[in-house]
Amino acid sequence: MSKKPVRVAVTGAAGQIGYALLFRIASGEMLGKDQPVILQLLEIPDEKAQKALKGVMMELEDCAFPLLAGMEAHGSPETGFKDTDYALLVGARPRGPGMERADLLAANAQIFTAQGKALDKAASRDVKVLVVGNPANTNAYIAMKSAPSLKRENFTAMLRLDHNRALSQIAAKTGKPVASIKSLCVWGNHSPTMYADYRFATIDGKSVKDMINDQVWNKDVFLPTVGKRGAAIIEARGLSSAASAANAAIDHMRDWALGTKGEWVTMGVPSNGEYGIPKDVMFGFPVTTEGGQYKIVEGLPIDAFSQECINKTLAELQGEQDGVKHLL
Ligand code: NAD
Ligand code: LMR
Repeated sequence: MSKKPVRVAVTGAAGQIGYALLFRIASGEMLGKDQPVILQLLEIPDEKAQKALKGVMMELEDCAFPLLAGMEAHGSPETGFKDTDYALLVGARPRGPGMERADLLAANAQIFTAQGKALDKAASRDVKVLVVGNPANTNAYIAMKSAPSLKRENFTAMLRLDHNRALSQIAAKTGKPVASIKSLCVWGNHSPTMYADYRFATIDGKSVKDMINDQVWNKDVFLPTVGKRGAAIIEARGLSSAASAANAAIDHMRDWALGTKGEWVTMGVPSNGEYGIPKDVMFGFPVTTEGGQYKIVEGLPIDAFSQECINKTLAELQGEQDGVKHLL
């Protein structure tokens, strides 16, 4: 094995997404079948959580993954992010009974401020950060703002689950395979205000919009189905999505690290002003990736309906940002 191992930190490692994620990272599905990894696993210092984490590590050990070059358990981000090359920030405070959105934002602001600072201090200067824990866009924004010595473009939020959900809905509607659908994207916040957009999508070179040709379906079926899919899964499973979220995290990091060969994917990334989105807003955009860098797809026409949808999700994100401003 010739490649040098890279360090992959995962927070919330003993949680449900962690359980669906770690084994796939260790088997090479995220960074390639020739890339050894050292897992830096973070949980809250609580005895029960650390004990559960030990159990997960015993199972990882029992898989005898050839690419798993090391494993560490941590209870604090300062030690957990040392020299980290890839950080998947999954652990977050879930919404409890009677908790308002503002309380959730404040609780998570504390977690992501501390983690941003720790990454700033300890991680590799090229660390690629993916925030999964909700509210994902705003948590990523907080971490980015708390890490001034790292490049802002190295902080991203997960919109890939929404992207994948949209792909499956379009595949079902058109009766075409998921893999044949190109150039789909999801704009904005990972929340029901997101705008899943198939205006530019094609299947075998043909326009998906023309194939579907039904704006009522777009507005009344497609957008609410994709936007409220997280809630529908919680309702059905009694727990939030985990395997599909872990899968989307793998897709996001793999494509960022290894490239999309010109294909579009959706990533939540800090805006540089593209499409009128103010600088630094952590927004879902269509991107392509190459050589470990992503590039926002620019110059797409935005019609009146799309602009209205984009304005709505932007307003929500700016409201979230305003709600945590005093904590940064
Ligand atoms: P979970 O409750 O099963 O696990 C979360 C784990 O994180 C717990 O083990 C907890 O102890 C740990 N944790 C909490 N705070 C931590 C901290 N400061 N440092 C380290 N670990 C910490 O939850 P889950 O189902 O794995 O979901 C995790 C998060 O992902 C939730 O916020 C959920 O809403 C979010 N989520 C996001 C998406 C997305 O598409 N962006 C999709 C699904 C779930
Ligand atoms: C999801 O999209 O499945 C998660 O973000 C869970 C949620 O709260 O919607």
